[in-house]
Amino acid sequence: MNNTKEYIAKNKERFLNELIDLLKIPSVSADPAFSQDVINGSEAVKSSLLAAGCDLAEIHETDGYPIIYGEKIIDPTLPTVLVYGHYDVQPADPIELWDSPPYEPVIKKTAIHPEGAIFARGSCDDKGQMYMHIKALELMVQTDQLPCNVKFMIEGEEEVGSNNLAIYVANNKAKLANDVILISDTGMIANDIPSITTGLRGLSYVEVEVTGPNRDLHSGLYGGAVANPINILTKMIASLHDEHNHITIPHFYDKVEELSDAERAEMAKAPFSLKAYQDAIAIESVYGEAGYTTNERNAIRPTLDVNGIWGGYIGDGAKTVIPSKAYAKISMRLVPNQDWQEITELFTTHFTNIAPKGVTVKVTPHHGGQGYVTPIDTVAYQAASKAYETTFGKKPIPQRSGGSIPIVSLFEEELGSKTILMGFGLNSDAIHSPNEHFGVWNYLKGIETIPYFYKYFTEMNTK
Ligand code: BES
Ligand code: MN
Ligand code: MN
Repeated sequence: MNNTKEYIAKNKERFLNELIDLLKIPSVSADPAFSQDVINGSEAVKSSLLAAGCDLAEIHETDGYPIIYGEKIIDPTLPTVLVYGHYDVQPADPIELWDSPPYEPVIKKTAIHPEGAIFARGSCDDKGQMYMHIKALELMVQTDQLPCNVKFMIEGEEEVGSNNLAIYVANNKAKLANDVILISDTGMIANDIPSITTGLRGLSYVEVEVTGPNRDLHSGLYGGAVANPINILTKMIASLHDEHNHITIPHFYDKVEELSDAERAEMAKAPFSLKAYQDAIAIESVYGEAGYTTNERNAIRPTLDVNGIWGGYIGDGAKTVIPSKAYAKISMRLVPNQDWQEITELFTTHFTNIAPKGVTVKVTPHHGGQGYVTPIDTVAYQAASKAYETTFGKKPIPQRSGGSIPIVSLFEEELGSKTILMGFGLNSDAIHSPNEHFGVWNYLKGIETIPYFYKYFTEMNTK
């Protein structure tokens, strides 16, 4: 594998330019105004799979956005790696907070990325990380070192819940058969502290609507005598946490797995600077559930957060009004063993129960998914660990993440294989936020590390 570094050095500019072209396509899955762009994104992915050396790449239409399947089967008796990624991106809003336009990628140096980072929506989540796999395939094919079979499944609806991918997976089990699933859609601790993501949280996402009077009322004529839906909604939301920041929904914690002291001690060994964490997001102090550290709060503990809240008059000036309705979007991050549908029901029952007389409550579930934990005593994890050790010169730390990729647990259920989460992003890369970026170094390091995973995974499996 001596020519890996050489090949990357020789093709670096092209690797960057190809990614930049892909990032120019505003493939926002949430907003129908971008539907043609999402479709254009799927076609660009298909062409790049073929260009990289897939023998086959096809676009599978769904009720939503297309899924691209690609493969290069060199010998059916060898192991097969299934790569998953997504070409859809989050909306760029609030667009005015971007220093450069979200779909006109630019490379700029930052304190954390002295070699430059590509600023564009989707650069890290997930086009940049997904494209590393396509370039890694090209590299392995061109340098004659592809050691096993590879399949790609790249979707365009990850950011909106992957509903159509779930159907596709259930209907295409034989086609998708594999020995391991490989995903780069998470992060690592720092460029000099490699880590492998071993857990993802589950998710239950709901919208609530509180209705009071049948129309907006004069807040003088009626104020004090009827329930104000916004007052009520905020009170109900406030009651969902107690003074220790525990969630108050009955039975919410019933299935939460408590880690042993030994496991918690192991987790606490991961390097972490509270000051750097706070400084990076300009807060004076962290906040959260009593009895748990920051890393625990955001990896092994479930949460409930309001993502948006609205209602009443929010235009210029003042309007004296008691609104008829108030709304909120609420997400609950879950840990393994908590079932997202059960949690959605517990939430719905509780939220309806705590509504006082004078208002009615409607809860609409949006989407969700189960959490995931990947064991570290598998051949796949060992192969990934050895790959990082080779290219970073350091053994990676296993670490659970607070984010969610709901489809991962379904992959295991339907296809029976484990997932390895080789993420190369950093928390500071601002995914889902204005000025999202992805380090040039990280992008190239990913392309360099992935082929070693293939190599070690194949060697360990065929020994
Ligand atoms: N790639 C992220 C998830 C992620 C990022 C996991 C960093 C771990 C570390 C993914 O695209 C995402 O944004 N997932 C959503 C859930 C989805 C159903 C919209 C999330 O976590 O909010
Ligand atoms: Mn993602
Ligand atoms: Mn995302």
